[in-house]
Formats: sequence, C-alpha cells, structure tokens
Amino acid sequence: MDTDEKRGLARNVAGYGDRDFSLYLRRSFARSMGYSPAMLERPVVGIVDTSSGYNNCHRTVPELIEAVRRGVLAAGGLPLPFPTISLCEPALFPTSMHYRNLAALDTEAMLSAQPMDAAVLVGGCDKTVPAQLMAAASADLPVVGLVTGPMLATFYQGERLAACTDCRRYWAAYRAGRVSAERIGEIEGRLATTAGTCGVMGTASTMACLAETLGFLPAGTASIPAVHAERLAAAEAAGALAMRLIEAPVRPSQLITRESVENALTVLLALGGSTNALIHLTAIAGRRGIAVDLRRLNELSDATPVLVDLKPTGDGYMEDFHAAGGLPALLHEIKDLLHLSAIDVTGRSLGERLATPPVFVDRRIIRARAEPISPVGGLVALFGSLAPRGAILKRSAATPALFEREARALVFDGLEDLARRIDDPDLDVTPEDFLVLKNAGPLSAAGMPEAGYLPIPQKLARAGVKDMVRISDCRMSGTAFGTIVLHVAPEAAAGGPLALVETGDRIRLSVAERRLDLLVEDAVLARRRAAWQARPAPARGWNRLVAEQVLQADEGCDLAFMKPADAKT
Ligand code: FES
Repeated sequence: MDTDEKRGLARNVAGYGDRDFSLYLRRSFARSMGYSPAMLERPVVGIVDTSSGYNNCHRTVPELIEAVRRGVLAAGGLPLPFPTISLCEPALFPTSMHYRNLAALDTEAMLSAQPMDAAVLVGGCDKTVPAQLMAAASADLPVVGLVTGPMLATFYQGERLAACTDCRRYWAAYRAGRVSAERIGEIEGRLATTAGTCGVMGTASTMACLAETLGFLPAGTASIPAVHAERLAAAEAAGALAMRLIEAPVRPSQLITRESVENALTVLLALGGSTNALIHLTAIAGRRGIAVDLRRLNELSDATPVLVDLKPTGDGYMEDFHAAGGLPALLHEIKDLLHLSAIDVTGRSLGERLATPPVFVDRRIIRARAEPISPVGGLVALFGSLAPRGAILKRSAATPALFEREARALVFDGLEDLARRIDDPDLDVTPEDFLVLKNAGPLSAAGMPEAGYLPIPQKLARAGVKDMVRISDCRMSGTAFGTIVLHVAPEAAAGGPLALVETGDRIRLSVAERRLDLLVEDAVLARRRAAWQARPAPARGWNRLVAEQVLQADEGCDLAFMKPADAKT
C-alpha cells in the first residue's frame, strides 16, 4: 500500500484516526468505480468542471474535460474531474458577482481537501476564471488554466453580430425607437449562435488574456475559439502539462508576483479590456498579499497605448484577435513595457517566450505601436471628494467631449428607483445632467451588478442622445460602452460620500485631472450624514457572510477573511 502522503490518492486522507485504514477505505471505494489497483497508484490530476444546464458559456466543458483526461492518461496520470459551482453571467440573481467569492471558496476547498497532485481549471464565463485564480492563489497547488474560449460571430443580414456589445447597441436602438419589436426579437436569436464566452473583449475574454499574462494559461490559448479543434488540442496539452507540473511544480505563488500583476495591468490597458478585470485582478493579487494601487494604474495608463481593435473599444471580435496573433502578438508589441522575468506555468520567463517575434500579425486588429487605437491606456482611476478611494472610467469606450464637465446630479436611490423613473416622460433631465446611481455596490442588496451602464432616459434616447455621464458604485459589463464612472469607493451602502448625493447637487468630473468631486458644502454634507442610516444586515446564509466580510471595489471585493493573515484589512 502506498502511504506516501505526497502523491495521488494518498494525499489528504480522510480523518478516521487510522491513516492506513483511511487510505484502504478510499481505495476500496475508488475500486467500486472500476479502477484497477495500478490506476489508483498513479499521480492524480483533478479537473475542475464548471458546466451546468444554466451555463451556455460552458456548454463545451464536457468535451474539454474528455480531452484533458486524454492528456493526463497518456502521460501516466489518473484524471479525476469534479464539479464546482457554475456561474453564468446572465443567469444569477441579483448578479453573478455576488457569487464569485462563493465559487472561489468552493474551488479552494475542493482543491485543498481532495487528493490531487495538480489540477486543470476549466472555466470561462466572467466570474469563473477570477474565482478559480483566487482559489488557486490560496490553495497554492500547481494548476493549469483552460478557458472554454470565445464564441464565433455570425452574419445577420450582412452584419456580423456576437454577444454582447451588439446586444447592448441594438437594445439601445430599440429603446430609442430605431429598431422595431419584431427585429429585436429576430436579433435575439442571432447574437450568440455558437458555444463559448462572449465574442468581444468583454470580461471573460479580458480575464482569459490576463490569466495567460499571469502565466496560468499556456501561451496562445486565451483566445482560441470555443468551437475550434485547436481548443480541444489545448485541453489535451493542458492535461499533459499538469502531469509535468507534478514532477517540476510551478505554483501559483510563483506566478502571482508584483511584476506579473503589473504586467497584467499593462495588458489590461493595452487591450482596452473590461473594467471588471481590475476588480478581479485586485482580488487575485490580494490572495497573495499584493495590493493593486489605482494611482499606479494611472501611471501605467499614461504610458500604455490601446492596441487591440475589438469591440467594445473598436470593431473586431475575439476570433479576429486570435487569427491576428492573439495575446503573444500583443505581448510582443508591448515587450518594453513588461517585466520579462515573470514566469508562466511551463517555467519559462516572459523574456524567453517573447524571444522570437511572431510570424504573422494582422495589424488591422493588433496595431503597431506607431499606430495605436489610443496613445494612452483604456482605463483611468479618478479620485476626489465623491470617490476618496477611487472610481474607474473606461476612457477608451467613452465620449471625450464629456470628460471635462461640471453638471447637476440626477440621483437614483437604487435599481428599483432607476427602473421606476428612468423612462418617465415627466423625468426632469437634460443631456448635460450626470445620472447617479447609488446603493448598487458590493455591500448593497444589489450585490454590485453590471448596472453602471444606466440606460439613457427614453425621452432623450428618442431625441438622439447616445451618451451621458453616468456615475455609480456598481460595475458595467465588459462589453458595454459610454462615459460611465464605476466602482465608486467607498460605496453608498458603506456610507461613502455617494450615499449623501442628492438630485440638484453639482458634481465636477475632470478626466484630465483624474478628479471626481461633489461640490456641496461640508455643513450640508454633515447634516445629511447625521440622517443617513445603513441598511439592516441580512439575517442568514451567504448574504449575511457577504454583508459582514465583503471588501470595497478598490480591494477587489473579496471576503476580508480570505486574504492572507498578514494582509487583512
Ligand atoms: Fe458568459 Fe459573457 S455571459 S462570457
């Protein structure tokens, strides 16, 4: 009997008080699945299965797992898939973000509790990859990341469509009366026509690219379309790589370093990537005690051009990015901005990976440094009396004419208030107003949904208004666009200054100065603060734990007690 604690089924034996009996029982029960004794001697690769009937983005996970198993078996290991919770972006109330930390908790617990020597993390939809990387960072087990990959765009009446920038664009046109009910119904069936994650540089694609930058995904695999054979080949290779990690471990603690996190920030900026990725990267880095400084983000943003021409910042789709050379081509283009000592899961340094220039790069999609989409990065952090700990603006998907403004606030107290009044024909609103949504941050009952893309009030939309300044403590979809200030911290539900804003107040936005200020006298704010009351905490369950533990956006919205002991806030 193999009683080596460091290998295979002999790891993490259950606590029956007699270690040999515990292993005997485990093997006996494993034999009931028909495994030969020789198979049970093999090193074990766990395979995280995040598929579910609710998760369209993970529809291909079963065949990916089959391919991973093939890779593990061929390399002499025992592949053991196991489920963790599955988070599909549009399928969860109040929002998938509310459950990202639950997925991270679940995944970390199963990686740590079950016997395995390495694991392949199969994920894809927005919250899955962040949760898996947070879990891996804490469990510090050697892992290989494998994403499901993006969907393909499809032609509809001569126009290419894919979820979900096009969803939002068409919905806005429908609200403005420019698209009929019949046509919007037809388009509903044409936006997501293949398996895979959203087909633009939304959160899922951004996180896949950041996971590759951090070194968790083998080079070049972030953008392989979900339905390509290449994706299955990457799955098989991930299984084989996990086996190599058992002999020559590269642990998450070696991948998540100050340098690799800064590389990921730089890539996020060059991609014109999702604002959500900033929260997730902060949470992942936080698991290793590394803080992401929003002022450093601004420095990097001023030095990093946007080079990738994909929706929502540009025009292309993820399949174009992959065909153009994918992340390796982008990394090569910004090589001088990166820390080349950072290693990936194969143990190679970024410098080694980028030693040879790519054979082909489609410059329509991945621009040369001399011809950027924008000479500066896609995201900026704003600070000021309305956001003492910061707020985020995706300037690459915003309207520069709105960047330097002082205007009247039109305030909505929460999502219900917004839904009730935004389309009221009598709403007192002008295109110059700033729309402000409060009580939608991580601590709120709303759970920080992707509601920061407040709809343009219908009467203005119908008059042709396409963008307004919108400010909130929630998030927006990585596929959305507009002059939208997000992640205001501290949030309203935590008693941040946002809680005190009232309709009619003046707010000043200056992107040039990185400022967001509430122009209300201190004495008035003090009176409002004295009258402000926190909402009662939920009585039980996950909601209660979130209410007690969730951190603000600038700290990645992780649960405070999940950070390393020496980094607790
Ligand atoms: Fe899953 Fe967009 S809904 S990636």
